Amino acid sequence: MDLGFKGKVALVTGAGSQIGFGKTIALLLAKEGCDAIAITDINLDDAKLTAEAVKAAGCKSIAVKSDVTNKAEVQEMVKQVVAEYGKIDMLFNVAGAILGGGPLEEQSEDLWNKEVGLNLYGTMLVSQAVLPHMKKQNSGVIVNIGSGSTHMYSHGVSTYAMAKGAIDIFTKQLATVEARTGIRVNCVAPGPSPTNFIKAPDKQAVIDMLAKQIPMGRGATPADIANAAVFFASDISGYITGQVLHISGGSVL
Ligand SMILES: NC(=O)c1ccc[n+]([C@@H]2O[C@H](COP(=O)([O-])OP(=O)(O)OC[C@H]3O[C@@H](n4cnc5c(N)ncnc54)[C@H](O)[C@@H]3O)[C@@H](O)[C@H]2O)c1
Repeated sequence: MDLGFKGKVALVTGAGSQIGFGKTIALLLAKEGCDAIAITDINLDDAKLTAEAVKAAGCKSIAVKSDVTNKAEVQEMVKQVVAEYGKIDMLFNVAGAILGGGPLEEQSEDLWNKEVGLNLYGTMLVSQAVLPHMKKQNSGVIVNIGSGSTHMYSHGVSTYAMAKGAIDIFTKQLATVEARTGIRVNCVAPGPSPTNFIKAPDKQAVIDMLAKQIPMGRGATPADIANAAVFFASDISGYITGQVLHISGGSVL
């Protein structure tokens, strides 16, 4: 099946993690014939490792450092990618993390600001910087990464889950606004997966414990998430926009 990636340029944020969703998405895009993939992360050394892996898979790639919470850095990063490849056809907003938690009375405003700043505003800032380039060519796809935590209420009052819930709404709003400009916007909401997102040393043990509550009895693999993200970016999802797709083994129905 032709996914339509020939000649296409992708930008993946948070793609430095060597076991994360971003790198897995980038490698799948390379395998499916994408022309060039810009890898960006707050950690440049990790981004360079991913870019090398993408090149080894036969696709052009550059690594650019950018903290998605820093508007100037984001604007500069997008400028650099467009200078290198002339355009951006696909944006994957992957950068994100849980930064804290605990009882509401013990949470600080600083934590709330950081959590929303990274997960929601980070996604908005990169989209804002990329949109003018997509509008110029009357085409583009944005794939946001949400979270199954938006539908799980047993983890306390979580600003992370609230920020991810706002990404769902951002996805629908932007999709509607851009529906006639040739730009589609969708969101993949993952269930737990053993990436660096899970801070425990034995990540798989944490996932195995959580898997007891998952109808399909296992956590998500990065490939499960990448398959859905790449589907949303491909031509075969050309009539789909404004959707949030939960990839969580039946946890969210
Ligand atoms: N793994 C899971 O269980 C899970 C579940 C639901 C949602 N998610 C979401 O999936 C996305 C990817 O996470 P992952 O599982 O690949 O985790 P990961 O920790 O392996 O990768 C996240 C990457 O984001 C980068 N990053 C962090 N802060 C950044 C910033 N300010 N600017 C730029 N880059 C930054 C990190 O350096 C890292 O490379 C995140 O948005 C996360 O919230 C993960």
